[in-house]
Amino acid sequence: MTIIIAVDGPAASGKGTLAKKLAKHFGFHHLDSGALYRLVGLGVAEAHGDPKKEADAVEAARHIDHRRADDPAIRTAAVGMLASIVSAHPAVRQALLDYQRTFAKLPPGTVIDGRDIGTVVCPDATVKLFVDASAEVRAHRRWLELSAANPGDPPDEARLLAEIQERDARDRTRAVAPLKPADDAQLLDTSNLDIDAAFAAALALVSPAVENV
Ligand code: DC
Repeated sequence: MTIIIAVDGPAASGKGTLAKKLAKHFGFHHLDSGALYRLVGLGVAEAHGDPKKEADAVEAARHIDHRRADDPAIRTAAVGMLASIVSAHPAVRQALLDYQRTFAKLPPGTVIDGRDIGTVVCPDATVKLFVDASAEVRAHRRWLELSAANPGDPPDEARLLAEIQERDARDRTRAVAPLKPADDAQLLDTSNLDIDAAFAAALALVSPAVENV
């Protein structure tokens, strides 16, 4: 049986870093499901479509080029915002579901991070983590990341905070598959933890379930 570790949480909570480290630790495959929504957002922009129009977004979702999942072009704040907009369309979520569920079954195990992995994509996951941190801490992390990448032109932290709050509000209140912890998810607040401490805490939470399979 394939072991599935679902890692959900809001933007910049640390879920992506933790998911990658967990996958490496256990020798499992890793899928960043947010990258799929980012590819859809980028696809709509490149086709000069309207991300708020379901038909435009679905068209992009049907033609995702998975080879571009590591393309730095999908990591910008603008594409993150587009991803959040297209992800609110039920037909877009449906179009990405099969890919995620097929990936989830890759032996010997998978770690998938996103917003609705524990609630919708893999409700029967072996173990579920919901990673969170205060909006201020998350905005500061993004600021550190972007400033390091672009020292000559550091971004405005207040604007990053406003963008994170806007994205959170949309992700948490959408009608389909909103961002929320599954009933059986284990909560991990990383506000006061650095990466090593967060990883140690995540490992302590998931290891018993993984070793029990
Ligand atoms: O994790 P991220 O910042 O790369 O995600 C970008 C957007 O994609 C996010 O604002 C909401 C959407 N998303 C989603 O709706 N469901 C997922 N499983 C992953 C991401």
